[in-house]
Amino acid sequence: MTTPLHKPTLNDLAIFGNAPAFRDKLYVGRPNIPDRDKLFERINTMLDSRWLSNQGPFEQAFERRCAEILGVKHAIAMTNATLGLEIVAHALGLTGEVIVPAYTFVATAHALRWIGLTPVLCDADPVTHNIDPNQVEALITPRTSAICGTHLWGTPCDVDALAAIGRKHNLRLFYDAAHAFACSTRQVPIGGFGDAEVFSFHATKFINSFEGGIVTTNDDGLAERIGNMRRFGFHGIPDSVKYLGTNAKMPEISAVMGLTSLESMPDIIAVNRRNYAQYEAALGELDGVRFYRHNAQEQHNFQYVVIEVNEAVTGISRDKVVRVLQAENVLARRYFAPGLHRMEPYASDPRYANLHLPVTERLCNEVILLPSGTAVSEAEIAETCHLITLAVEHGRELSGRQ
Ligand SMILES: Cc1ncc(COP(=O)(O)O)c(C=O)c1O
Repeated sequence: MTTPLHKPTLNDLAIFGNAPAFRDKLYVGRPNIPDRDKLFERINTMLDSRWLSNQGPFEQAFERRCAEILGVKHAIAMTNATLGLEIVAHALGLTGEVIVPAYTFVATAHALRWIGLTPVLCDADPVTHNIDPNQVEALITPRTSAICGTHLWGTPCDVDALAAIGRKHNLRLFYDAAHAFACSTRQVPIGGFGDAEVFSFHATKFINSFEGGIVTTNDDGLAERIGNMRRFGFHGIPDSVKYLGTNAKMPEISAVMGLTSLESMPDIIAVNRRNYAQYEAALGELDGVRFYRHNAQEQHNFQYVVIEVNEAVTGISRDKVVRVLQAENVLARRYFAPGLHRMEPYASDPRYANLHLPVTERLCNEVILLPSGTAVSEAEIAETCHLITLAVEHGRELSGRQ
């Protein structure tokens, strides 16, 4: 039975205290849960085997399956993507400065800073939201050792332009692909670009392993170093340590969840795609709102539904729209606000304090992520769209009140 559509009028809105929020909370990134019978069956097999970590059979199977899906030679499972980024940077022997986007999740820069590198922040492309390759070259100094792009929202970076810059200046190139599992560019899956790519299977990602990540590469030597560095530097020969390492191994329980989630991937993507189309139909032409479109000609996971609210047109700020939604239990998110250069430890560091990054700053003020995934119903999306439309169409009136 479908829930009837709740259509509050302006005066009903909970933000005025006039009406209670009308249903259970809707979240961005609420986990997708795969087939429980298969999951519990595998957990039992794992417990019976008493092999819980250290490259067990499920972890190995998960790596093989990811490599197959992404069309790469090596997929190396990790505890999470943040450690994956750190290990890639170590394994590539990076030093000094690494150019990263300013508009990304904080882990992209933190992972590098954590191991003593200096993230150099580059502004974004206004359409894709990804690192703007036209601004990368101006940031290169004698201390630059690499470029790291983020395929934000699953949209591929301009991989050709970045590769050309990398070649010209003899820099390493790798990608934060946390959002981009099962996405492609020119029909080539993300996973094999640059020296390495790093995916996240955090609980909020459309495919999750509770916590987890995977590093992909086609470079045999790099794969060996990355694989060993995630297990303290051990390299296959018992008790023999080859170099500095850490502990970033994926436990079997995560691999069990990851493998089972991958089996549901076509169904999850189909739901994401349907949700995205419903949002697009309702919000695609709304004045003052830009609906971020994914390239439907490519493989895409459609996990993120992104809008930009232009206050100059709507008369209502992005933050106010978010407050209207959150008061109604639609927990839409401001991603990423503030930008990295306005966040510690970067904000108080003189190297970042005076940065002016106009596109990043605009996006940090305008972007909203909307709830999607298998936990959100068609009726709830219709209600969410109604609320956004109401807020935007009555922007000036709403902004004047409260
Ligand atoms: C762009 C981006 N990079 C890195 C990460 C970190 O991934 P993890 O939580 O697996 O460490 C995330 C999110 O979690 C992310 O969104």
